[in-house]
Amino acid sequence: MSSRIVLLPGDGIGPEVAAEAIRVLEALPIDVVVDERPFGGAAIDALGDPLPEETLAACRQADAVLLGAVGGPKWEGAAVRPEAGLLRLRSELDVYANLRPAVGVGVDLLIVRELVGGLYFGTRGVRDDGTVFDTLEYRPDQVERVARRAFELARGRSARLLSVDKANVLDTSRMWRRVVSEVAADYPDVELAHGLVDSVAMQIVTAPGSFDVLVMENMFGDILSDVAAAVSGGLGIASSASLGASSPGVFEPVHGSAPDIAGTGAANPTAMLRSLALALEHSLGEPELARHVDAAVEAALVAAPTPDVGGRATTSEFGDAVLASLEVAVA
Ligand code: NAD
Ligand code: IPM
Ligand code: MN
Repeated sequence: MSSRIVLLPGDGIGPEVAAEAIRVLEALPIDVVVDERPFGGAAIDALGDPLPEETLAACRQADAVLLGAVGGPKWEGAAVRPEAGLLRLRSELDVYANLRPAVGVGVDLLIVRELVGGLYFGTRGVRDDGTVFDTLEYRPDQVERVARRAFELARGRSARLLSVDKANVLDTSRMWRRVVSEVAADYPDVELAHGLVDSVAMQIVTAPGSFDVLVMENMFGDILSDVAAAVSGGLGIASSASLGASSPGVFEPVHGSAPDIAGTGAANPTAMLRSLALALEHSLGEPELARHVDAAVEAALVAAPTPDVGGRATTSEFGDAVLASLEVAVA
C-alpha cells in the first residue's frame, strides 16, 4: 500500500524548498502519494483561513505532513496570521515532541522542544487598563510525555539528557524539573542533568560540542533551536520532526519563509531535505532511504553549496547535486 504525504508549501521560500523535496521524493524507490494543500498566508489569500478545514482533514489522513514555511510581511498586520495556522496544525495533530537536531562541525545535539503547550498555548488576553498577557502553563502529564520521549531518544544516543528550565524563577519550571526527575526513575540507564535556560544558551554558543539531548518548554526550544542552528551551520540546514502519540508526524525546516531571499533562488533546501529524511525515518518506515537522502545532501553541501553556506549554487542546482548522488546510491 502506498504512503500518503500531505505537502504544505506555504509562503516565501517554503514552496521553493518544498519543490526540491518533491523532486527527491520522486527519485526514491518508494510508493507515495503526494497531496498538496493550501496553508499559511497562501491559504489566507485563497480561502481566508491559514489552515482550511480540507487541509486539516487531509493532514489527519496522512502518514506524514511535509511543510515548507509560513508567514511574511504581507500578513503582518492581518487579523489572522499565517503563523496561527501552523500553531493550530501542531495542536490539532497533538504533535507534542518537536525534534530539532543540530549537526555540524563539532556539533551533534538534539533539542526536544515541547510543542503544544507552554507560553504559546496558555491563557492570553487584554485587561481594561491595556495590559496584555500571555501565560506559561503546563499540566504535569504534558511534561511527562515529552520527558519520556526525550529519555527514549537519549537512550538511542549517548544516554545523557539535559532538561532545560528556569527553575530559579518560574513555578512551571519547578514542576517541570520535578516531573522530569520522577520520569528519570524509569530510565536508570540515562544520566539526567538540569540546566538553566540562560546559561545553557550561553554554553550552546561557547561549547556546542558538549551537548547531546536537551528537553525544554516550547518557547525556550524555539529560541535555543535557532541558536543551535546558528552554531552548527545556519538556519538553512536545520531540520525538524514533530511527533505525537499516533498522529501523522509533521516535518519542517526550523527556518521561516525568509522574505529577504524569497524569489531569488538563493534558498538552501538542506533543512527541508533533512526534514524529508526525518519523515522517511520516523513516519514512513524507511530509515535506510533516510540515510541515503542525508548522505546525498552532505555531498551536495560540498559540491553545490548555496550562498548562506558560502557557495554560489541556486536552490535547484543544489537539488540537482542531491539527485546526482542519490541516483548513484539507490540505483
Ligand atoms: P527566517 O527563518 O525566515 O529567516 C531568518 C534569516 O535566515 C534570513 O536572513 C533568511 O534569509 C535566512 N534563511 C532562512 N532560511 C534559509 C534558507 N533555507 N536558506 C538560506 N537562508 C535562509 O526568519 P524571519 O525572517 O524572522 O521570519 C520570516 C517569516 O517566517 C516570519 O513571518 C516568521 O513568522 C516566519 N517563520 C515561520 C516559520 C515556520 O513556518 N516554521 C519559522 C520561523 C519563522
Ligand atoms: C518555528 C517558528 C514558529 C514557532 C512560528 C512561525 C509560529 O518560529 O517553527 O520555530 O515559533 O514555533
Ligand atoms: Mn522558530
